[in-house]
Amino acid sequence: MIELKTPAEIDRMRVAGRFVAEVLSEVGRLADVGVNLLDLEHHARGMIGRRGADSCYWDYAPSFGRGPFRNVICLAVNDAVLHGLPHDYTLRDGDVLTADLAVGIGGWVADSARTVVVGTAAEEDLRLVRATEEALEAAIEVARPGNRLGDISAAISAVAQDHGYPVNDEFGGHGIGRTMHEDPHVSNKGRAGRGLTLRPGLTLAIEPWFARTTDKIVHDPDGWTIRSADGSRAAHSEHTVAITEDGPLVLTRRDSEEPVRRGRPAGRLSARDA
Ligand code: MF3
Ligand code: CO
Repeated sequence: MIELKTPAEIDRMRVAGRFVAEVLSEVGRLADVGVNLLDLEHHARGMIGRRGADSCYWDYAPSFGRGPFRNVICLAVNDAVLHGLPHDYTLRDGDVLTADLAVGIGGWVADSARTVVVGTAAEEDLRLVRATEEALEAAIEVARPGNRLGDISAAISAVAQDHGYPVNDEFGGHGIGRTMHEDPHVSNKGRAGRGLTLRPGLTLAIEPWFARTTDKIVHDPDGWTIRSADGSRAAHSEHTVAITEDGPLVLTRRDSEEPVRRGRPAGRLSARDA
């Protein structure tokens, strides 16, 4: 069942979205060589507690994970990309870190993810990160009334194809609002002009993720973390987006988030990108 949200409900989702953006900015700012993933989890947990927000992850027990999740943020390093279980790992120079966060405030939910490179970034890692950002922006651009769900999926896979990255279609985006995971599924692969017609009030988490050289995944023995099957590095960018009469409204945009940058010199993404 797909529930369309009223403008007032979308405003309430935007409150959650602003806060998710704030936490992800902070996590991006803190992520650095020598920082432990557990410190980042701790920090996010503190911010959520002080805000009186509800973590959508804590105690979540979906079919794709083992038992209830006992963290508030997903942190995935290098070949890990989705549902990364925070654990005792100290970030190293050049690591690719994805942080994915969903919270509810007053019963309305937003979900967003970003990937940063800590320390000295390899050009090929920056290219991968930027490709997921570019795919996300391309998908948002077509998230308009009258377009189809397949237009969003096709926009994502077209950007991946341009860059030569294969696309996995098992895990993608989703409807969102009262809960983190609602209908419809938003595949990262699809055909333009097909599927559900987008209407004002449809709220979607759009989340392209690519691994450099494979569309296959493996499940980590920790029961949660999903990695690229060939060990190649992966990146993930996600926003919660409302489709309105006036076009797409990004509910989780970070303050100083720039549109996709091309040709940016290799360097630290995390600090200035926050
Ligand atoms: N935010 C993830 C998504 O986009 C879901 C993480 S669920 C968790 O769908 F249980 F792993 F936290
Ligand atoms: Co999501």
